[in-house]
Amino acid sequence: MSSEALVLGIETSCDETGVGVVRGSTLLADAVASSVDEHARFGGVVPEVASRAHLEAMTATVHRALHDAGVTLADCDAIAVTAGPGLVGALLVGTATAQALALAADKPLYGVNHLAAHVAVDRLEHGPLPQPAVALLVSGGHSSLLRVDDVTSCVTPLGATIDDAAGEAFDKVGRLLGLPFPGGPHIDRLAAGGSPDAIEFPRGLTGSRDMERHRFDFSFSGLKTAVARHVELRQREGEPIALSDVAASFQEAVVDVLSRKAVEACRGQGIDHLLLGGGVAANSRLRAVLEERCSTAGIALRVPRPALCTDNGAMVAALGAALVEADISPSAIGLAVDSSLSVDRVTVD
Ligand code: KG4
Ligand code: ZN
Repeated sequence: MSSEALVLGIETSCDETGVGVVRGSTLLADAVASSVDEHARFGGVVPEVASRAHLEAMTATVHRALHDAGVTLADCDAIAVTAGPGLVGALLVGTATAQALALAADKPLYGVNHLAAHVAVDRLEHGPLPQPAVALLVSGGHSSLLRVDDVTSCVTPLGATIDDAAGEAFDKVGRLLGLPFPGGPHIDRLAAGGSPDAIEFPRGLTGSRDMERHRFDFSFSGLKTAVARHVELRQREGEPIALSDVAASFQEAVVDVLSRKAVEACRGQGIDHLLLGGGVAANSRLRAVLEERCSTAGIALRVPRPALCTDNGAMVAALGAALVEADISPSAIGLAVDSSLSVDRVTVD
C-alpha cells in the first residue's frame, strides 16, 4: 500500500490503557487512561487490578481517540494492538477489543511487539527512523538494548536485564526510602539536591568476567540490596539517612551502567544512532549523561517527548502504520497474546 496509512493502535500490556490514531508519521490522537493510582497502595502493578481497569476504561478511551483524531473506525486502514510482551490478562483486554473492532469494521489486524512499538514511536516525533539504530528501552517492565535494522521486520536483542527492570529498581528503592509509587520521578527530584558521589553503589554486570558473558545485559537487584543494606545499617546505628544523597548515588549507578552499555553497544555494532524509550527515559540524569556520552562518541541521540516514551497507544499505531507501508501481512483475526513474546518477533501470526 502507499504511504500515509491511517491506523488505530491499542496498548494494554501493563497499567496504561492507550489508544492512539496515526496517519503515516503524523500523530492524530493519543488517549491514555492510567490505573497507576490504583496500584500505589500495593507498591507495584497488580495484574488483576490492571486487567479490570483496562476493561472499565477501554470503550471510553477508544471513543476519545477517534473523536480527538476526527476520524471514524470506518476511515482506518488497519488496527494494531500489543500482543506481547506484558501481563497476560491485560494484553487479552486489548487484543479482544482490537479483534472485535477489526471484525466489526472489516479491517486488517496487526498483533505487534510492545518493544518494537517503543522504537517506532519516534517517527511521530523526529520523522523516519535512522536504520540501523541501537535502541535502549527502559521502563518498569523491561530494560533492553536492541539492534534495529528495520523496525517492521528486523529487530535483534543485544542484551536485557537478568533480574529487575530499571524502572522496577527505581520503584523498589523508592519504597525503601519511603517515597510514593512509582518511585522513579520522586527519586529523580530528590536526587537533584544530593551528591551522586556520596555513596559508592555497585555497578551490576560491569566487571571484566561479567562483561564477557553479559556485555550488554543489566542487573539491578544487587544495587537494590546495597541500598537496602545502607539504609538498614544507618537505622540500626540510629544515624540519620541523607535521603537525597542515597537517591542521587543510586540514580548515578543506574544511569552510569545504562549509558555506558548503550554507547558500547553502538560502538560494538558500528552504529551512530541511539534511540531512548520507556518511562525511565524521563529521568533527567539519564538524559543528561546519555547526551554527554553520545556527543563525545559521535552518536546521534533521539529521545521522544516523555508522553510518547511511557506506554501509549500512539506507539502501537505508529508501528502499525509502518507495517502497512512496508506491506507486511496482517495477523490472523484469532491472534493469541504472548506474555513473553521475544523481541525479534515484530508481529504475531
Ligand atoms: O513505560 P512506563 O510508563 O510503564 C512501564 O513500566 O512499562 O514506565 C514506568 C516506569 C516506572 O518504573 C517509573 O518509576 C519510571 O518509569 N519513571 C522514572 C521516571 N519517570 C518514570 N524513573 C526514573 N526517573 C524518572 N523521572
Ligand atoms: Zn513499555
